[in-house]
Amino acid sequence: MKNILTGDRPTGRLHLGHYFGSLKQRVELQDQYNTYIIIADVQALTDNFDDPDKVRKNVREVALDNLAVGIDPNKTTLFIQSQIPEIAELTIFYSNLVTVSRLFRNPTTKAEVNQKKQVFGNEGESITYGFLGYPVSQAADITAFDADLVPVGDDQLPHIEQTREIVRKFNHIYGETLVEPEAMVGKNSRIKGLDGNEKMGKSLGNAIYLADDEDAITKKIMGAITDPNKIKKDDPANPDICMVYYYHKLVNEKNVDTVCQECKSGSRGCVACKKELIRSMMEFLKPIQARRHYYEEHPELVDQILEEGTKKARERAQETMRRVRQNMKIDYFKN
Ligand code: TRP
Repeated sequence: MKNILTGDRPTGRLHLGHYFGSLKQRVELQDQYNTYIIIADVQALTDNFDDPDKVRKNVREVALDNLAVGIDPNKTTLFIQSQIPEIAELTIFYSNLVTVSRLFRNPTTKAEVNQKKQVFGNEGESITYGFLGYPVSQAADITAFDADLVPVGDDQLPHIEQTREIVRKFNHIYGETLVEPEAMVGKNSRIKGLDGNEKMGKSLGNAIYLADDEDAITKKIMGAITDPNKIKKDDPANPDICMVYYYHKLVNEKNVDTVCQECKSGSRGCVACKKELIRSMMEFLKPIQARRHYYEEHPELVDQILEEGTKKARERAQETMRRVRQNMKIDYFKN
């Protein structure tokens, strides 16, 4: 069976952007692949090193979100990055194979730096060695498990490309050791935020969370952007510039054609349309929230899943590490 590795940074609860970008796919694939899901707390710390409480708390939230969408711990290995020291070890060795200028050219890193500048002003310019290097650590996450496939949102493609370059260079210098992974991007790999922004993001404040309750969903959808030219309830409008229609397409597939026609003909008011979306959204989230609730009520079960997953993942990473040590000629003491 081929291996999959993917995962999330524990910096907040997961939202619809994560769901359509990656979670949905990983749930579907867990039957066909040996799947590893990393809760990337070390990566989260690269830009949250001054807030360990936040990262700690969100390790749990991200575990709950993964279980909630249907990750089955009997099929998938869910683990915590910081508890696998082999990943840190690999990161050190890989860091020799990447130039600093290559890291500065990474478009995702660049976008993240720009976003920090907008939020923090000039302070955002003082990026750390650790932050600049997180794609190297991500290469270690992926290769420690011999991942063949990495299902991710399209913002992660530069990191997978960086991983492939490291693997090729490593294998060229030290001999065939690492598996070169491929990215796998879903069809809705990036979904827009409530405000119409191209990306739904926690820091952008435009996200619908998988754990949002009906009040939160109602508030968010009632405030969503619709066609600004539609003034009166029965004015015809253009659904293609309406965020409400956009989400109908994702969570109300069975009625989306009617929504579109009625919007265009002017027989559907925005308030009614938003109310229908709220109902569909809650319907869509219902099984997810029911599973989340179950695991919230059984915290010891979540502890056990994480502990066993991490143990299993570590054994797997240790196997890779043995190969790496041997081929790098640093296997001094046989054990
Ligand atoms: N960088 C990913 C994100 O921000 C999280 C992540 C860490 C990851 N390590 C990974 C994704 C390895 C895929 C493979 O969402």
